[in-house]
Amino acid sequence: MHHLALPLSLFGVGLAVGAGGAALLAPSPAKVPPQGQAQRRRDELALPARPLAAPAQPATPGLSDVETARVREILGHSGHPGPIFDQLSHLAFVSAYDRRLRHPAWTAEHLTASSLVRPPATPGSGPVDRSNSVFKEDERIPEQFRARLKDYFRSGYDRGHMVPAADAKNSQLAMNETFYLTNIAPQVGEGFNRDYWAHTEDFCRRLTKAFGDVYVFTIPLYLPRQDVDGKWRVSYEVIGNPPSIAVPTHFAKVILASGRPSAPALPSPAASSTSTAPAPLPGIDSGSGGKLLSTLGLGNGVTALGAFVLPNAIIPNSVPLRAFEVPLDTVERAAGLVLFPPAVKRGAKSLCSVTDCSIIVRDFSKANERVKVERRNTA
Ligand SMILES: *[C@@H]1O[C@H](CO)[C@@H](O)[C@H](O)[C@H]1NC(C)=O
Repeated sequence: MHHLALPLSLFGVGLAVGAGGAALLAPSPAKVPPQGQAQRRRDELALPARPLAAPAQPATPGLSDVETARVREILGHSGHPGPIFDQLSHLAFVSAYDRRLRHPAWTAEHLTASSLVRPPATPGSGPVDRSNSVFKEDERIPEQFRARLKDYFRSGYDRGHMVPAADAKNSQLAMNETFYLTNIAPQVGEGFNRDYWAHTEDFCRRLTKAFGDVYVFTIPLYLPRQDVDGKWRVSYEVIGNPPSIAVPTHFAKVILASGRPSAPALPSPAASSTSTAPAPLPGIDSGSGGKLLSTLGLGNGVTALGAFVLPNAIIPNSVPLRAFEVPLDTVERAAGLVLFPPAVKRGAKSLCSVTDCSIIVRDFSKANERVKVERRNTA
């Protein structure tokens, strides 16, 4: 059990080189002390504020205890009506759930060659497999804001994993956790979730053959489109009755890949005759980027960053993955997130300049069959 937590802790450590990433990946948000909160609310409500020079005075002249209590009473028990996001920790990933959109705000994982190995089946329990997992409503989320199985039922959309089940083969429990609806967003099924998106997830896993550490953010996005009147608008469907779960217009994969694989390439179920050797990494030991990041503890060799934004729509397999490559800044602006510390960004090369950014088309029809069977069973 202990070793299962390792990739996640490495993920935290690996990114704890700057305030931005570390704060983002902290398992629970820092709580504002009640007094500080009350002070801030007081300012917002234009109530008499204490002079900045005397911050430690407990009793405020001009705002009686009764008034303070009343402000608290109006704002609610904790002094604020949030949170909008729930930060969640799991064996194979960390994530934030968006209560308003009822799907993840972001998920983050740390992949290595060994984190992707399925352990041998033990007597008493069969091999780790997605057929042993079921989609589940997440009771950590207050009922009012929870995504429900019935919202997805007959919606026309797949329950799309943000962290793929295949990235959590280390244990059945780890895989089960990817089936919480807090890790799921509505995705176009045929032509996307079961095809191009699945190939993109496979691309992320294959990077572990060339890099020691692969960090992957998956982020649902809502991007505006220009209408005929020239104005930009965001339009998206909301599924469920009453309408409850928002359907993202796009999904981003942001990948930070670092260092060489530590061990000789491990046999992996994804290995195929098409790619057995690690992809060549030109200039692996040169450049200040690699050096900077080694001193920051992000491993030896090259560090590379790539961001891809895919529409939640049918994508023909003939479209090259690089057609979806965008600057990291584009994803950060659209998501409202700062994904890596500035030093990491400055030191990183473009992922597609050091490795081959392309999908390998595999047949996922078996998985499709299973989806259909599941649907029939729940019908
Ligand atoms: C995984 O989920 C299935 C279905 O809910 C359950 O029967 C099984 O006990 C779970 N396995 C683990 C290890 O939690």
